[in-house]
Amino acid sequence: MSLSQPHGETLVNRIDLELDYSTVTKEVELDGFALSDLELIAIGAYSPITGFLTEKDYISVVETMKLSSGHVWSVPITLPVSEEEAGRLTLGDQVKLVHKGSVYGVLTLEDIYRPNKLNEAEKVYRTTDEAHPGVKKLLERPTVYLGGSIVLVQRPEVNQFKEFYLDPVETRAVFQEKGWKTVVGFQTRNPVHRAHEYIQKAAMEIVDGLFLNPLVGETKSDDIPADVRMESYQVLLKNYYPQERVFLAVFPAAMRYAGPREAIFHAMVRKNYGCTHFIVGRDHAGVGNYYGTYDAQLIFNNFTAEELGIQPLFFEHSFYCKKCGNMASTKTCPHGAEDRLILSGTKVREMLSKGEIPPVEFSRKEVVEVLIRGMRVESYT
Ligand code: ADX
Repeated sequence: MSLSQPHGETLVNRIDLELDYSTVTKEVELDGFALSDLELIAIGAYSPITGFLTEKDYISVVETMKLSSGHVWSVPITLPVSEEEAGRLTLGDQVKLVHKGSVYGVLTLEDIYRPNKLNEAEKVYRTTDEAHPGVKKLLERPTVYLGGSIVLVQRPEVNQFKEFYLDPVETRAVFQEKGWKTVVGFQTRNPVHRAHEYIQKAAMEIVDGLFLNPLVGETKSDDIPADVRMESYQVLLKNYYPQERVFLAVFPAAMRYAGPREAIFHAMVRKNYGCTHFIVGRDHAGVGNYYGTYDAQLIFNNFTAEELGIQPLFFEHSFYCKKCGNMASTKTCPHGAEDRLILSGTKVREMLSKGEIPPVEFSRKEVVEVLIRGMRVESYT
């Protein structure tokens, strides 16, 4: 077995920092969400996608979880603009993609369309409830979508943790250099607690390396900030993982909270980064009670192994069991709820913000120290 082929066989590269766009006069403004998508398309993380979806691909993705080419793709990658901005554009135009006064890309405008957002919400998020953070974001964004291929002409600036920003072509080279033939990808928007560590290490028993790939784009405001998390990942890896079998790099995408659909999306992207395996645990990319605990695993049944091209590794809800005296899951532990240490993310954030230390069976001491320090600093900024 060699590293996963990119999705659609070829890694997309739409970066041209030398592109002369001086004659391009039209422009649209990107929000932070679209800016991160622009970069991720360009670096090939979203291969085989080469631009913001046209209506044909958008409908295909929303309705069938596939691009019109037949490739599996579960969340629409869209460029929403206002009616006013769209009104200034004509099909075939070159359009500068601007964020806060800087040009980051150029779009070849192939399509202008008005999506049925409630249908998108229902199909992608399985709810139209505006209290769902993904749906809220979807409905807040402008109402007209632009489709067409893009070129990235400037990389968004990164101020912190620069060394952890790697493109898929670079992570692939790293894995090859390390001699890893099998690599398991781990998506997270949280600090790595003992349950995460447990499932990562269980996976590490059967593959050559772990690619810890935290999402660091936009998340909802009560998630722990990415800079604090990045520090916590580093102390964890340094103290508890064999250095030669782990690799940390960020996934600069926005979080959609689309649960099952996002699990498929997360897997396809990690395939592009070079992973052969991908961990899907309990309520992957979920929020509130919108999804069943294992819905994000069940959705993989819609596709064949060939269509996916990456092996999902499913894990049951994991916890520390006092009677077993170790980490376990519902698959391995016969004891009852009273023996199990299960803390919700909300509860832990609450404890951390009060400077309380969650038990060592829940989170490593070094990780907790970073989080408490980080949360204190964040609350003053
Ligand atoms: S998220 O991006 O999927 O929302 P999160 O950090 O909450 O990130 O979870 C990362 C991964 O670990 C997901 O695959 C999730 O399903 C899994 N996971 C989180 N907590 C547990 C747990 N207690 N038991 C099993 N899997 C878990």
